Amino acid sequence: MCRSPASAQAEAMNDYIFDTGSELGQHHLDHLGNLLDAPSRWSLERRGLPPTARCLEIGAGSGAIATWLAARTAEVVAVDIDTSQLTDVPANVEVRRHDLREGLGVDGPFDLIHARLILMHLPEREQIFAQLVDALAPGGRLVVGDFTGRRLHPITTPTAEDEALWARVQYLSHELASPARGISFSWAAGTAARMSAAGLVDVHTLEYSETTAGGTDGCLLHRNLNQQAEALLLSVGAAPAELTRYRELMTDPSFSAWFYQFLCTSGQRPKCSVV
Ligand SMILES: C[S@@+](CC[C@H](N)C(=O)[O-])C[C@H]1O[C@@H](n2cnc3c(N)ncnc32)[C@H](O)[C@@H]1O
Repeated sequence: MCRSPASAQAEAMNDYIFDTGSELGQHHLDHLGNLLDAPSRWSLERRGLPPTARCLEIGAGSGAIATWLAARTAEVVAVDIDTSQLTDVPANVEVRRHDLREGLGVDGPFDLIHARLILMHLPEREQIFAQLVDALAPGGRLVVGDFTGRRLHPITTPTAEDEALWARVQYLSHELASPARGISFSWAAGTAARMSAAGLVDVHTLEYSETTAGGTDGCLLHRNLNQQAEALLLSVGAAPAELTRYRELMTDPSFSAWFYQFLCTSGQRPKCSVV
């Protein structure tokens, strides 16, 4: 069957932009873990982790958080559209390959659900968020972490041209390429209000942000994402020479900037009322 150009475009918009199963995809997940596992763990265990808990991790990536949860709770279901990085997980982690755009792919209820850097990537985020709330057991907690669109201010740059180049690549990446692929940097700021509106209680947000210098995880992640999204960046107007210099800059210790602001929001389904 032939697909119309419009449906082909809609499909392309919805496809996750990065390749989790590639070597670059593996490094991408490693950098995310080095940058964000500490604040995520803090949020996950803020109200304690019952050893009997049944947990769900969506967009599980490398499985690092699923593995950490599995050491503290009874059972973890780890869902990802690409499970190639989820090979070395403990026996109490059940790995499910599934496209979250077609539902959660597993039945609740869950005592803890964690979703990091997945909802901002999927245009179906509102619908998936509602499904996550529905899948909570009474008293169960939902923890959602995403990046915001706060401007990534440079701190030190080798030259004024490099400062302008950084601003231009951020503009191309965040103002042109990301929206074209359905990625939202405005979603995270509304997660707490969204949880309250859904009837969750004890809603709390941890804001986490740090600076990064060339050659450290934040800059190496920028470099990695720039490589993975090369075709898209060229299609929105980036010049090859700009991308080459940007990638050099991301390994240069004399460059530094603020990394993304990460908001990790948690909320609890009331113990004895219907949400
Ligand atoms: C940015 S990574 C985040 C991985 C992990 N949560 C972390 O923070 O380290 C997004 C993850 O979501 C997965 N993913 C993307 N689209 C998906 C979909 N439609 N259904 C299920 N998983 C998806 C990717 O394969 C990838 O592992």
